[in-house]
Amino acid sequence: MPIITTSLDHGKSFVTAFANANIALVKYWGKANRDLNIPLVPSISFTLNSLGTFCHVEKSPDEHDHLIIDGQEVDDAALGRFHAFLTYFRSQFSIDERFTITTKNNIPYGAGLASSASAYASMSLGLSHFCHLDLSEKELSLLARVGSASAARSIMGDFVALPGGEALGHRDAFASPIMLQNKPDWQMVIVIGNHQQKALSSREAMTITKQTSPFFDAFVKNSHDDFLGCKDGLITGNLETVGAIMEHSTLKMHASMWAAKPSINYLQPFSLSAIELIKAFRNRFGPVAFFTLDAGPNVKILCEAPIAERLSTHIQEKLPNTTIVCSSLGQKAKILDDRAL
Ligand code: DP6
Repeated sequence: MPIITTSLDHGKSFVTAFANANIALVKYWGKANRDLNIPLVPSISFTLNSLGTFCHVEKSPDEHDHLIIDGQEVDDAALGRFHAFLTYFRSQFSIDERFTITTKNNIPYGAGLASSASAYASMSLGLSHFCHLDLSEKELSLLARVGSASAARSIMGDFVALPGGEALGHRDAFASPIMLQNKPDWQMVIVIGNHQQKALSSREAMTITKQTSPFFDAFVKNSHDDFLGCKDGLITGNLETVGAIMEHSTLKMHASMWAAKPSINYLQPFSLSAIELIKAFRNRFGPVAFFTLDAGPNVKILCEAPIAERLSTHIQEKLPNTTIVCSSLGQKAKILDDRAL
């Protein structure tokens, strides 16, 4: 794979990286350490295929960092998290450089489709190559996690595990792929009923939930069982086991948000309709499709690949105002050659 970099001193050098988004089967919700963004609970994800973020890294023309998302320069007020990430990056690797970072998503930004995951994963890989660090996957995952914990998982492909826990230190909180002898033939069917950016970020929502929800401790308490059970289900290729845990994990997460003060609700009527359709589909065809939702109203369905098309058509007929996107398992983040954004 060609890597387009020249010296950091060379004004024209650039790198373009791409990372896929991922959907958590077992949810990360809540932080053990807010500064370093260490998850309080372990999580497992499904890497989407070809749905993610292109990230173009180049030297800044002035003494400031710039972030351009989908063609629009992000203003100072929204730049706090990005600056914190770049400040961490520079201090960690003794780099004294300002960057212009241009990202382009091929998934709706901020719609609960985990685009911060692919954004920080592609940025970490792009920065590593641009600065000739050539970090290992483990180091990239550690770096991406500081930007967004779910991004730690988007460095890798297929099914990915990220540890979490109160006692976890920075160097322990990196993702790794779950090695499977037989990769299950499953797909993620994404039901998009709302493309708008969410009003409350997952970061803010998880802080409020952790601080105020009486159900948050219950979510944390059996998250390790969910993690281990899901991993076993993946190893044995048992969709029913993985799907049941996946639904339980997301419902516990949303229940804990509902019970927060103030209460947080990301679901919309179409989300509940989709959930009921999936349950009815299962009653008819058996345990072939299971749902999950993140910090947004869009519904993701893990299903046997051969039924993905039939399921999509069925949902589209019943919920005609939604857009359906199907994704197989995707690969790890990569450097592209000279893709212009
Ligand atoms: C519901 O990774 O976006 O998608 O670490 O604060 O950036 P930060 O949060 P983020 O939260 C993702 C939450 C989730 C569940 C998951 O992806 O595990």
